[in-house]
Parts: sequence; structure tokens; C-alpha cells
Amino acid sequence: MKFKTETNNSCFRFGLCLALAVGMLGCGNETLRFHLDMVWIRSNEDPEVAFQPEQLQNLSNVLGAVFGTPNKPHVLQDSDIGVEKLVNRDLLQLAAGPVWNDPQGKSHGLYRKHCAHCHGVSGDGAGSTAAYLNPYPRDYRRGIFKFKSTPKGEKPTNSDLEKTLLEGIPGTSMPSFVLLPDDEIAALVDYVKFLSIRGEVERNLVLELSDLEEGELLVSDETLEDGKELIQDAVSFVVNRWSRAESKVAIPAACPSSADPRTATGEEMERSITRGYHLFHGVIANCFTCHGETALGDGQLDLFDDWTEELQPKDPERHAELMSLAQRPQPARNLRPRNLRLGIYRGGRRPLDIYWRLINGIDGAKMPQVPMVDPNDPGKPGMSDSDLWDLINYVRSLPYETLSRPAYQSQTDHVQLTKPL
Ligand code: HEC
Ligand code: HEC
Repeated sequence: MKFKTETNNSCFRFGLCLALAVGMLGCGNETLRFHLDMVWIRSNEDPEVAFQPEQLQNLSNVLGAVFGTPNKPHVLQDSDIGVEKLVNRDLLQLAAGPVWNDPQGKSHGLYRKHCAHCHGVSGDGAGSTAAYLNPYPRDYRRGIFKFKSTPKGEKPTNSDLEKTLLEGIPGTSMPSFVLLPDDEIAALVDYVKFLSIRGEVERNLVLELSDLEEGELLVSDETLEDGKELIQDAVSFVVNRWSRAESKVAIPAACPSSADPRTATGEEMERSITRGYHLFHGVIANCFTCHGETALGDGQLDLFDDWTEELQPKDPERHAELMSLAQRPQPARNLRPRNLRLGIYRGGRRPLDIYWRLINGIDGAKMPQVPMVDPNDPGKPGMSDSDLWDLINYVRSLPYETLSRPAYQSQTDHVQLTKPL
């Protein structure tokens, strides 16, 4: 099976051939390409059947045919795969390419102007500034985002990405772009989605291809049919997830008035915070394990996020070789649970933001979803909606709680914690 790069009768009905022809012939002077993720490729191939240079070239050509290049990104129109429904073609052109201003003073090349020095031209999180930052800028190609209204495993909505751009990520180097006009924010959001979709398709395609039998791997001269299906599947899988994000937003359960800072009396809030304290230190919510007895973020110190974990030595013998291929700088950054006493929340400080962090967990960052009671499984331990609001009130009170308050129970008897503070 081969992903051919010239016109062929059995062309993809979604216009891949046309795109290939344009991509390969029409843009002969187009040298800048989205680079392949060689660490991912080399870590996932069977060393016995390693991808050959010609196969990697074919892979790059096929991805180029579907997604274009950093200077001319494109989405196939009227295709079966639907990227065009997720990102706007005109906005992509505004965000992509080199930086320039048109005679009307409109800025082009927004991504390279504002983002690429951190997030990299391919969205690999390895721009020229990245080496000096902790945490590292996001590698969009995994398709994982941390700060969103949707559960783990789901994509962020447009509003989630907009919020990240407008507010930045407090406590990290990710700046706020609140001064940019609305259309530029929209263009950058679409371009982040585009880079993420392209990168994730590449990853999925590599996995599919590594599963094929030796010899079949993008080399034989047979038909395009297999290749067509592979690409369609790889793209549709990713596109479907982005399309359903809006329907996955976690709608917050009503907050009881006695736990709502806007309506609760001082005493009611104090009781809610005390209940939250017990939950935080209890075994169901289990927050203290990572965030520490003190909530200073010193409970579990040996965590790595999903992005960094990929660069950890699985096979020590090959580690040095893989690292020489990494665009992302070394060394691996350790992931610290948040110090909750600082009052700096990367994903936003509103009760709603904390609600989403708890009910959804933090994707890619090991923070689990809070276990909730399940009406279908009454025996399963979990928290109720009002418990969750108490916990949120406690978390939000932590910057003001005195650290010198004596701990009156030891770590071993959380279950019995019943004493009021
Ligand atoms: C100075 C470096 C820097 C610049 C410039 C920058 N970012 Fe970031 N960005 C970061 C860092 C660091 C993170 C990761 C923060 C974390 O993991 O908590 C990040 C994360 C993100 C995320 C992921 C949020 C999530 O929920 O996981 C998005 C989306 C993003 N940036 C978009 C952009 C866009 C678009 C631009 C340009 C308009 C941009 N960034 C410019 C450093 C930067
Ligand atoms: C397995 C470890 C782990 C557990 C258990 C855990 N967290 Fe976290 N938590 C983390 C890590 C790691 C981060 C930092 C993630 C990041 O931003 O990269 C974090 C971040 C947070 C944040 C900051 C969100 C923001 O926007 O900056 C809050 C709030 C939080 N945790 C609350 C809790 C609460 C409450 C619980 C218990 C229900 C809990 N966590 C359980 C690991 C954990």
C-alpha cells in the first residue's frame, strides 16, 4: 500500500489527489513544512521494521496534501472528513505564514508573531524560547489541553481556548492576548485547533502504519484504497472529538444557597469551608495525597505530565538516540501539584473554573476527576453536588487559612476526621 503523490484514478473522493497535485507541483518553491514528530515515530515503530526515509517522505507528503504547509495551511473543502467545519479557511490564512502588514495595516502571520517563539512553528511546544520556560509551552500535537470545561479525554471548546488566550495562564509564561482584536483571537484559536488536529492525525497515522505488516508499510505500489481509508479514519477520529466538545461541557450543579458566597451568611460559609476541609483531607476526594497535608503542593513530588512522560527513558538503551531527535528541549520538567495557598489558578479563579478543574480533572496533568456519587451504584463511595461546592469553598479559602493552625489529626486517621475546626 502506498500513499501516492501523483494523480491516480482511484483518487480520494474528498479531493486528496487535487490537493496532492497542487501541494507537490504547484507549490514547488514551498520548502517550509510541518516537521514530523521523529521521537513519536521512532518510539512507536517496531525497530525490526523501522520506517525508511522514503516512507517518511511519503507520510510527510500525504500530511502535506491534507493540511498544507506552515505558509499555506489548507483544509480540504467539501470533504467527508469535516476539518473545514471546525476551522475557518480565511482565518487560518490570517494566522499562518510569515509576519507582514497589508496596506490597510492589517496584521498577518499572527501565530508566528505572537506564539511560535514559544509553541514552535509546528505547534510542538519547542519554539526558541521554550528551553528557558517551566512549564514548557504546550505541544498541541497530542491533542490534550488542560484548562477546559470538558472532561478528561475530551477537546476544549472554542470558548475554552479563547479564555486561555484572553486571560493567559497565570503562574506560567503564557501571556494574555486580551489587547488583540476579536478577529485575531478567533484566527489564533482556529490555528491552534488546526495545528492540534494535524499533529494528532500524524500521531494516529504513525500508530496505524506501524501496525501494518512488514513490506506493506507505505511502500508497495498497489492501490490507494487502504491508504485512503487509513487517512480518512485518522482524520475523522480526531475531527469527531473536536466536533462534540460543545456537547461535553460539564454543566455545574446548582450551589445550595448556604454554600453560595453571594447568599450564605458568614456562619454558613464557615460551616461549608469546614466541611470542605474534611473532604480535602478525606480518602474519597483524596486531595491531600498530591497537594499535601498543608496544601502547599508538596504531597507527591515525583509526577510528570503526559508530554514530559513521553520523553522519559522507557528503553534506556535507545533514550539518548531518541532525545537527539527531540525538538522539545531537555531536561524533563517535574510536574508539581499546585500550591493551593498562593491563590494563583492557571485555569481561572472563579468558582466555576475550580468546579471544572475538580469535576473534569486536569487532562495530561495527572489530577483525577473527583469521584461523584453514582445513583446507579449506591454502594460506590463518592461526593454529592453540595460536597463539591463545600470543597470549592475550602480550596478558595486556602490562601487565607493560617498555616500555623495545629494539625489535630495525623495522616493515618483521615477517615475518622469529624471534629469541627
Ligand atoms: C512566552 C511563551 C508563550 C507564548 C508567547 C505563548 N504561549 Fe501559550 N503557553 C505557554 C506555556 C508555558 C503554556 C503551558 C502552561 C501550562 O502547562 O500550565 C502554554 C499553553 C497554551 C495553551 C494550552 C492551554 C491548555 O488548556 O492546555 C494554548 C491553547 C496556548 N498556550 C495558546 C497560545 C497562543 C495561541 C499563543 C499566541 C497567541 C501563545 N500560546 C503564546 C507559553 C506561551
Ligand atoms: C494525583 C495527584 C492529584 C490529586 C489526587 C489532586 N490533584 Fe489537584 N492538581 C494536581 C496537579 C499535578 C496539579 C497541577 C496541574 C497543572 O496545572 O499542570 C493540580 C492542580 C490543582 C488545582 C489548580 C487548578 C488551576 O487552575 O491552577 C486545584 C484547585 C486543585 N488541583 C485542587 C485539587 C483538589 C480539591 C483535589 C481533591 C479533590 C485535588 N486537586 C486532587 C494533582 C492532583
